[in-house]
Amino acid sequence: MLNGRSNTADRPTERPLEEASPRMAPQDPIEFDLDRVDELIAREEAALEPKHAASIAYREVAERTTARGVASSWQDSPPHAVYADHGKGNRLWDIDGNEYIDFHLGYGAMVMGHAHPKIVEALQQQAALGTHFAQPTKHLDAVGQNLSERFGLPLWRFMNSGTETTLEAIRLMRANTGRDMIVKIEGSYHGHHDSIMFSVAPDRSEIGPREHPVTVHQAMGIPQAFADLVRVVPFNDLAEAKRAFDENKGKIAGMIIEPAMMNCGVILPEPGYLQGLKDLCHAEGAYLAYDEVKTGITLTYGGATHAFGVTPDIVCLAKAIGGGTPCGAVGATRELYGPVLRNEYDMAGTFNGNPLTMAASRATLLEVMTPDVYDQLDRIDKAMKDGLTSVIEKHGLPCSVSGMGAKGSVIYSRQPVREYRDAVGIDERISYLAWLFQQNRGVFKSPWTKQETWTISVYHSEDDARRYIDNFEEFAAAVAS
Ligand SMILES: Cc1ncc(COP(=O)(O)O)c(C=O)c1O
Repeated sequence: MLNGRSNTADRPTERPLEEASPRMAPQDPIEFDLDRVDELIAREEAALEPKHAASIAYREVAERTTARGVASSWQDSPPHAVYADHGKGNRLWDIDGNEYIDFHLGYGAMVMGHAHPKIVEALQQQAALGTHFAQPTKHLDAVGQNLSERFGLPLWRFMNSGTETTLEAIRLMRANTGRDMIVKIEGSYHGHHDSIMFSVAPDRSEIGPREHPVTVHQAMGIPQAFADLVRVVPFNDLAEAKRAFDENKGKIAGMIIEPAMMNCGVILPEPGYLQGLKDLCHAEGAYLAYDEVKTGITLTYGGATHAFGVTPDIVCLAKAIGGGTPCGAVGATRELYGPVLRNEYDMAGTFNGNPLTMAASRATLLEVMTPDVYDQLDRIDKAMKDGLTSVIEKHGLPCSVSGMGAKGSVIYSRQPVREYRDAVGIDERISYLAWLFQQNRGVFKSPWTKQETWTISVYHSEDDARRYIDNFEEFAAAVAS
């Protein structure tokens, strides 16, 4: 049984997905006609603008004191920022009063759905007892024990964002090895600190040769000295990772990797890749860190660590583990935590282990994201993948669908996408148009850059999948016509 399922009253009657979307004989593949895409973008933007009149007007108010009227640059994607009002379960309402099925879910942090009663209760109880002490509380053992069980790592520390977790993970790998260089995957994002904000979404013109990718700055103001410490390699290629180590003997502290890439569609690791990386890192006296900020507790109960059966030396978690509060956790071996255990390394932060965050985490991990909800997530994931694949085949679109557990995406490429370079040439207008079709038809999605990525919550049903697929079908029919 699901925890707190709701929101069925206003949905159309459920019908089996196969019946709703019969498998048609695949059409001959088409290419996207970009003139047609431009035409449809203009039409969909014109339809969307009046629905967001209040958001567009409020932005002018917010801009008086907040740069560009948004709190984070990534809350501001074209055509305009949409200001949220409230959420419940699988639904989000904006300040214009539009109601959406929420597949954005706060960049995947809200896999437990909005305002889950168990999390609301935990927050209310803790708020009444005090919201911050900068002292440890008795939430630590329950949360730490649950994370150890899920991720197979014995020791944990708690932070306030994914960025803080990768900062500490990289620093711990450096502290333990006395080495400065880090290997990262091209096209992965690990937060906005100076050590690692490189080659996140570099332009094709900047990336250089595949065997020696350029370490491309993702933000202004990061000194070149940081870039010089980062070696970039393609995903799913052990030989290239080995080349990076061979060319930098004794200099690399470790490798940080999203075990399944989540920030340019969903790209899964090929069999043997993660184990090969772990073996390679250890053979070179270096460590392997997983960034499970997006995959942790969303792909499976034990995240990508459990899904792919390879436990790294260190895991970074954030987003979904906090039940919608600012959160982060770093799990690692006793060896990696050695400098902290010996009190030689200050892993500090005023709000680390904040009682509100810890109370929300505790309810999320122990009471909401329990092992049984993953069957439900897998069922909806399958419905999404089957339905979207049928539409793609029916209209002969050059796309594929990829996903696992609560996460998935359509990738607008005919070729299999194994790494960032396979996706870098895809025209962003296509995913923008797909986003506009969803937004105009009651589905809220994360920004559309490159590929569409969705998150499913414990409240999402087959009807919600159906709505997404029906909207995608309208998009497919329009671009294919
Ligand atoms: C894989 C990954 N790592 C790290 C981060 C940074 O997390 P935060 O935005 O909480 O700092 C993100 C954010 O989207 C992410 O997707």
